[in-house]
Amino acid sequence: MRNLIWFVAGAIALAIIVGGGGLIFLKAGANGFSARAQPSALEHFAARQARALALSTGARDRTNPVADSPEILADARSHWADHCAACHSNNGSGDAEMGRHLYPPAPDMRQADTQNLTDGELFYIIQNGIRLTGMPSWGSGTSRDEQDSWKLVRFIRHLPNLTADEEREMKDLNPKSPDEMKEEQEERDFLNGSQSDEHTKNGDQSNERRHPHQH
Ligand code: HEC
Repeated sequence: MRNLIWFVAGAIALAIIVGGGGLIFLKAGANGFSARAQPSALEHFAARQARALALSTGARDRTNPVADSPEILADARSHWADHCAACHSNNGSGDAEMGRHLYPPAPDMRQADTQNLTDGELFYIIQNGIRLTGMPSWGSGTSRDEQDSWKLVRFIRHLPNLTADEEREMKDLNPKSPDEMKEEQEERDFLNGSQSDEHTKNGDQSNERRHPHQH
């Protein structure tokens, strides 16, 4: 009897998955494979259900072993600014060049959809990533990594209360492109007048050396 119930439940689940999958692909057909479209509500729902089903209760129910303290949060904030903000933005809204244009896009993690996930789910996602999405896996099996991920879970819980000061601090910790670094150096040189003269002089000399026939 028990087996029969499981069989029927399994058959229904399979029908829903196949049917739902079919519907999603039918719908996707209209947009080709462009990542510029927004996932439909149905697709979003189906993907999140599949994710929830795939997670064992053991993983879901794990509790955070890392204490909530200002030092831990500061540590996690700089980690987030360096590794996560490119897609999730400093405040977790997902309003970042890359995060906005992924399919599915990076969600606004301050909202209930994310905040209602358990600590165990958030931890699992950070360690393992999410298949067929832009979310990478960050764990490599070391306990140090695990500590870092649990700290990030603390930070995700803090996102809805992030202060403007904290966000400003994070901006300085975001990775910079070579162009941005050059611009900052030029600004520093400009503010530091005498050094900037020195710079131009040297630059001119080396230019002359390299192109002696131009003058
Ligand atoms: C290259 C882009 C990218 C980077 C970098 C990235 N993520 Fe993600 N992340 C995503 C995308 C896209 C999703 C949404 C996937 C989905 O809808 O299933 C996501 C989802 C998540 C989720 C699940 C949220 C939810 O409500 O489903 C968590 C937690 C998360 N990311 C944490 C992190 C952390 C922590 C870092 C840094 C260590 C990070 N991410 C770095 C792209 C990224």
